[in-house]
Amino acid sequence: MATAELAGKHLVLGMSGGIACYKIAELTRLLTKAGATVQVVMTEAATQFITPVTMQALSGRPVYSSQWDGRVPNNMAHIDLSREADAIVIAPASTDFLAKLAHGMADDLLSTLCVARDCPLLVVPAMNRQMWQNPATQRNVAQLRADGIEVLGPDSGPQACGEVGDGRMLEAAATYEAIASFFQPKILAGRRVLLTAGPTFEPLDPVRGITNRSSGKMGFALARAAQQAGADVHLIAGPVALETPWGVIREDVQTAQQMYDAVMRAVPDYDIFIGVAAVADWRVDQVSEHKIKKTAGRIVPAFNFVENPDILASVAKLPHAPFCVGFAAESGDLDVHGEQKRVRKNVPLLIGNLGPLTFGLDDNEVVLFEAGGATKLPRAGKQALAGTLIAEIARRLPDTSLIR
Ligand code: C5P
Repeated sequence: MATAELAGKHLVLGMSGGIACYKIAELTRLLTKAGATVQVVMTEAATQFITPVTMQALSGRPVYSSQWDGRVPNNMAHIDLSREADAIVIAPASTDFLAKLAHGMADDLLSTLCVARDCPLLVVPAMNRQMWQNPATQRNVAQLRADGIEVLGPDSGPQACGEVGDGRMLEAAATYEAIASFFQPKILAGRRVLLTAGPTFEPLDPVRGITNRSSGKMGFALARAAQQAGADVHLIAGPVALETPWGVIREDVQTAQQMYDAVMRAVPDYDIFIGVAAVADWRVDQVSEHKIKKTAGRIVPAFNFVENPDILASVAKLPHAPFCVGFAAESGDLDVHGEQKRVRKNVPLLIGNLGPLTFGLDDNEVVLFEAGGATKLPRAGKQALAGTLIAEIARRLPDTSLIR
């Protein structure tokens, strides 16, 4: 999550009854931490699962649940609450509440304000697998989609009732990601983005190897930003301890050769390739089958290195190459090396990290190198910077890459 990425957004968080109400405490915390203001509205049933006091404490606002609430001077809570909102999110959305929405019913505060809304509506279903599969529920969900309502999830897995299947609510973090994504402009809608991220690991023997200090943060942040911008995103990652961004397909690899093979397999289906990985330039030519033993008096081992394939340059050379973006982490003279590297790799855009190596840090300062010259961007957190870079990439896409 980027700091304050939902600043200025006001959400009505509508809770209907279900055991997944416990997840909404965490969701409220995530939304407010990102800068959103959250007005919780609960159905009578929701108040049986978690108290309005808890939701008030977490959202910092009194909770509404009754149509007849005397706190609203004109007694028009159903109008006032939705008029202030940038979106209404129903989480959890029970079987019953989905049915009510699909039929435009308005018999309590939450359903009434949904019917009276003039803002987008997102629903996050949560129910037993049989209830989800029930033809009536499926009909209602299809109707909601046809009415332009966003349906987030549901997830699949173990359920509170002990059964396993589709219907459980997305976790709070995934729900947050889906909401954050909803608010981003879809500047990469219809585009397919392939990225590499993280370091590679080149084994010496079964237990040792050579790697580097890339954390993968910048590549993962770009994958998240591209997904939020509406692209289909495939992320090929070296060994990193990072969670897969929501909605992104991830493939894990270890070595540069594996990364090369994975990229070459996938790339015909993509129109943008962003090489963010810090790929090892060399690997040992013979990986020892057994652990290299340290024996007294024995001379230290020596290794012969061979060069790894350059993934970015190889992709850029393909006959129907996607729009290619490279990265460069230099320890000095970036202005000279950055442009040289861009030309050598034959890519239209190369992003150079300014200053000391940025590996592992949460922020970054970069220069864009392209045929027309170099442009420096202000220092920013990696997630915010990723959003800016995706916008910069989107601006530069040739129309011809729309259909490959
Ligand atoms: O040559 P250098 O490693 O500095 O180039 C960095 C850029 O090239 C990055 O975009 C990186 O992902 C990519 N690269 C690659 N395959 C390599 C080496 C670098 O794709 N073997």
